[in-house]
Amino acid sequence: MQTAASATGSGSASDALFRRSAEVIAGGVVSLNRKVDPGLAFVRAQGSRLWDADGREYIDYHAAFAPHLLGHNDPEVNDAVLRAMREGWSLMGTGTTPWEVRLAELLTEVVPSLQRVQLVNTGTEAVALAVRLARAWTGREDVIVMLGGYNGWSDDVARSVAPPLSEIGPRVSPGEYRFLPITAGLPRETVRRVHVVNFNDAASVQYVLGRHPVACVLTEPVLQNVGVLPPAPGYLAELRSLCDLHGALLVFDEVKTGFRSALGGYQSIAGVRPDLSVFGKAVAGGHPLAVLGGHADIMGLFDSKEASRRVLVAGTYNAHPVPVAAAIATIERLKRNGGEVHARLETLGARLQKGLEEIYRDRGLAAVVSRIGSAFATYFCDRVPADWHELAARHDFELDRRLRRALIDLGVYHFPIPTKQGSISAAHTEADIDRTLERTREALRRV
Ligand SMILES: Cc1ncc(COP(=O)(O)O)c(C=O)c1O
Repeated sequence: MQTAASATGSGSASDALFRRSAEVIAGGVVSLNRKVDPGLAFVRAQGSRLWDADGREYIDYHAAFAPHLLGHNDPEVNDAVLRAMREGWSLMGTGTTPWEVRLAELLTEVVPSLQRVQLVNTGTEAVALAVRLARAWTGREDVIVMLGGYNGWSDDVARSVAPPLSEIGPRVSPGEYRFLPITAGLPRETVRRVHVVNFNDAASVQYVLGRHPVACVLTEPVLQNVGVLPPAPGYLAELRSLCDLHGALLVFDEVKTGFRSALGGYQSIAGVRPDLSVFGKAVAGGHPLAVLGGHADIMGLFDSKEASRRVLVAGTYNAHPVPVAAAIATIERLKRNGGEVHARLETLGARLQKGLEEIYRDRGLAAVVSRIGSAFATYFCDRVPADWHELAARHDFELDRRLRRALIDLGVYHFPIPTKQGSISAAHTEADIDRTLERTREALRRV
């Protein structure tokens, strides 16, 4: 059988593409997060499947970092996009359009905390806009973010997502961790304004709120860039109370959790209402669209009569009709038949979880599967960690890395970076899950 090694080795079609890429694309990839080993070039995807440039087929659990909730090239989403183009939906760039109004109506209907929304292209833009809006609303500049969280690449939030223990230093609680930049080029003043605390550590949030003029607490409600790290019972509600007490805004970054965990976002599961929320990824079935929304008064600053308080939102491609058509089709599909898509994703997720747990138990491995619906991760340790610090200390990164690699060789594509979340789509079948389990058994024999 051809392995990933032979599919990426010299002479492979993937390798040839990477060589061409290196000549013309700075760094060889258009997002540094895509630079991984094995470096595979994928050329086609449909439903739950990917095909690389050398013709190998994979069951996909990467889902392009999670947008593909319905699967690749979902026929209904594709039809909606093609129909929109045939019917003359185009980027108008002036005034409003019926399709963006329709999408905004759907969003405000399915996520109750979204009294008003704005539509942009990427999660990064929407988060940056949320931070600006929170600063304008509160007249303060500081921001609290979470260790182990990712909120895009804008300056304010560009800290290292998963720093090794050697860089984190000893556990800090209550208190804050150092801002470890994920990039060069960050202004010193920006970094000074951003406070990094541990997830699930309300005492540290309180500590910072009591010492600095904080505009907002910005958090993923579940840390899904380091697997699936859920909030402890009551933690998100505690953040809500602390923000109210200190006059800071609570901002949920639901770019990963939104629409994947539930139609109403993870906030509908947690029963906690943030002031502002950001959605992206799954909302548009694989097309580039992101949403910032929240309380009407706060969102009203986009139209403030006072020029000095008005917050700018702009963008040539905001609410481009192609992703808008895709988002309308996605949300309508998720609403249909009492939420049958989410019910199905839960069934598939439970089947995978149960199977994986059996396999790890049979092999006597210390492993736990953390899962919310279609989002899952295996931690090779004895319990689901509470935060990145605990995860970094306990997880068997080397086993995780080797298992992912062996699975890729066997035609199951998990992103080849330890702890990265897996995503099931509605296009996966029970047979896909069972095949994945068989191959996981085989992969573990090889590592
Ligand atoms: C939680 C979270 N927020 C924000 C972003 C940034 O979104 P985008 O890559 O669309 O800019 C991501 C991307 O992975 C994310 O996972």
